[in-house]
Amino acid sequence: MSMTHPQIAPFGGTPEQKAQLMAAIAACKDIPGSLMTIMQHAQEIYGYLPIQVQTMISDATGHPVEEIYSIATFYSMFNLFPQGRHHISVCMGTTCYVKGARNILNRVSEVLGISGGECTSDGLFSLDVCRCVGACGLAPVLLVDDDVYGHVEVDQIEGILQKYRNL
Ligand code: FES
Repeated sequence: MSMTHPQIAPFGGTPEQKAQLMAAIAACKDIPGSLMTIMQHAQEIYGYLPIQVQTMISDATGHPVEEIYSIATFYSMFNLFPQGRHHISVCMGTTCYVKGARNILNRVSEVLGISGGECTSDGLFSLDVCRCVGACGLAPVLLVDDDVYGHVEVDQIEGILQKYRNL
């Protein structure tokens, strides 16, 4: 997989968002253990926590960026990349994996030009993997928003995604 991300939208934070973030930090920065709360506010303001936002939090609170980054990557509620209008999740549970989930993920990745955890530059699709969603009888399973696709084959991916391009 390429190490560059030409499809990723550049960070587009506004001065208003920054002011909101600084106000949220000022309100709770002296409360012990408030870093996660600040990060949650930041995600509500920006929708995700790119490195630019992590750096702003670090500068304003004194917590090292490394600490903020490790919290952001550890907890699944935090997104390092923007979420698309349609969120795709490829099940990587054991049954799906055995039934070829890796090929499904690779194909989605190839069609959209993004890796897991990323979002297309038009903001339409974001991609992630998930653990077993309890539909192993349908493996391999692909989710798009609340829609579940079972027994997915690699050559169906383009058609499935196309439906959502027109919504
Ligand atoms: S492993 Fe994918 S649904 Fe259970």
